[in-house]
Amino acid sequence: MHPAQQATPQAAQQATQQDISREIDRLDREYAASGVPRHHPPRDYPPYRSSLLRHPRHPLTAVRDPEAAERYGPVFGASDVEASDADLTRGHPGAPLGERITITGRVLDRAGRPVTGQLVEIWQANACGRYAHRHDRHPAPLDPNFTGAGRCLTDRQGYYRFTTIRPGAYPWLNHTGAWRPAHIHFSLFGTAFTQRLVTQMYFPGDPLLPLDPILRSVTDAGARARLIAGYDHDLSAAGDALGYRWDIVLDGPAATRTEEGRR
Ligand SMILES: [Fe+2]
Repeated sequence: MHPAQQATPQAAQQATQQDISREIDRLDREYAASGVPRHHPPRDYPPYRSSLLRHPRHPLTAVRDPEAAERYGPVFGASDVEASDADLTRGHPGAPLGERITITGRVLDRAGRPVTGQLVEIWQANACGRYAHRHDRHPAPLDPNFTGAGRCLTDRQGYYRFTTIRPGAYPWLNHTGAWRPAHIHFSLFGTAFTQRLVTQMYFPGDPLLPLDPILRSVTDAGARARLIAGYDHDLSAAGDALGYRWDIVLDGPAATRTEEGRR
């Protein structure tokens, strides 16, 4: 058993950022020394403490009738998605606080072909780093004009597009002094719920990126870089919103790493 796996959750929370960064660096060195490209983050990544407790420990079970899940899973149709669902700054009495941003990009398959009609859902904290969720106890203010959830369908060229505000960083209980870098959660539904992919998009230049054990659980540096959006001044709208571009590649060597059920 890995030494970090023996730590109780309480003891794990007492680790400092230095402890966590040391563990991250050691695992990076081990990955580099292995010489074997890793196509998915490990399910149990000790610096990301809670991953030790909530990853599958048993082999996957073959399901005789995988399509049966379709009878119980959520479904959606194109008519369920309104154009206004892609603008997270609307739908409230006033405008949300924070820096307005536009995020757009393409959903592509491994051959670079656009994936059209794809349901893309996002959720995020407000500008102060607080989720409009009852389990978020971070004492930053809620914004009555921001819920933090949106969705859209990719167009014929595979583009999605959202208008929102830049989320704030927030503290979490992974270790003493742990802060998540600003990020937006993304879900891609696929053609059925069993194909759903979940990942996170980050912002360029964030000083918290190298410290974050969730991002660092993607041990391949190139794959990590693909989780960080690019700032695009041509996309920025004068006097309105800053523009970020972020493509999502579903498979192949340039794939966007996904979370396998992590949130
Ligand atoms: Fe989050």
